[in-house]
Amino acid sequence: MANLQIRISGINLVHPLLNASGILGSNKEGVNLLALMGFSGIVTKTFTKKPRKGYDPPIIIPLEYGFLNAVGLANPGIDKVKEVIEAAHEHGLPVIVSIGGQNPDDFAYLAGKAEEAGADVLELNMSCPHTPGYGIDITTTDKLLKEIASSVKSVVKIPVWAKLGYSKRLIKEAEILLSEGIDALVLINTLPGMVIDVYVGKPILSNKYGGLSGPAIHPVAVYSVYRVYQEFRCDIIGVGGVHDWKTLVEMLMAGARAVQIGTAIISFNDKLLVKRILEDLLKYMEERGFKDINELVGYALD
Ligand SMILES: Cc1cc2nc3c(=O)[nH]c(=O)nc-3n(C[C@H](O)[C@H](O)[C@H](O)COP(=O)(O)O)c2cc1C
Repeated sequence: MANLQIRISGINLVHPLLNASGILGSNKEGVNLLALMGFSGIVTKTFTKKPRKGYDPPIIIPLEYGFLNAVGLANPGIDKVKEVIEAAHEHGLPVIVSIGGQNPDDFAYLAGKAEEAGADVLELNMSCPHTPGYGIDITTTDKLLKEIASSVKSVVKIPVWAKLGYSKRLIKEAEILLSEGIDALVLINTLPGMVIDVYVGKPILSNKYGGLSGPAIHPVAVYSVYRVYQEFRCDIIGVGGVHDWKTLVEMLMAGARAVQIGTAIISFNDKLLVKRILEDLLKYMEERGFKDINELVGYALD
């Protein structure tokens, strides 16, 4: 059987499939379900300093080609992250703790807390598109991006991943983060979007706009991974519309070494999703003569 093990930013994973932040990673029950599904590591919901209630419903709209969501970073606050980490460790899985702050000090504080609570990796949410004061709002300047990365790197020893959305600044942002020692990039977050109810004449989400995910953003995610890998040959975790072996292989061939799955977990509600994708992947690899998953990484580049 072909090798599916990968090593990313110094962390070993038995296969490349992780859940995406925001999908079942905010409490013990959710973590148990992800472990049961067979993910190789657990990515937590983005944790902030204080608990956040998030927006009022409607917060998520199913579309033909994905979801539009504006949850508003609802989470129980960083003081509760330890129970999520412990639940994942009970299953023997590494935990990637996603953190979201409003400035470099917040990020440094959250990073220290997460490491102390046992996180194996940090994921900096620099890309939520619908929560004012967080995500894309705080990465608008090179200076802020640099300060957030360096403040986190100076307080923790564990690997640090940074999650970016697509923008025309992507390559510049990636360059700054990598030069500050960020260990891997997570590409991409949801893209800004809006859906209007034409009978009511108003946007459907209570927040009016939200983040688009699922198959609709897959080609944008593949493009983003390809461009960043082409430029820097760095460790990348691809996110956006992965739902089967083919969308997974595309991400790997574009340069991702691991992938995260969000929308497909919710929309398929299929406990065998991971198993099915891995079986199909192995079949494809055997048919095409690939003996090791690492051979696929960046395969599509010249
Ligand atoms: C309901 C929902 C909640 C999300 N919450 C977060 C979050 O807390 N932090 C984050 O970085 N990304 C969050 N995301 C974005 C996902 O992690 C992922 O980047 C995006 O959905 C694209 O992947 P997908 O097409 O597989 O869903 C969320 C997405 C959805 C659909």
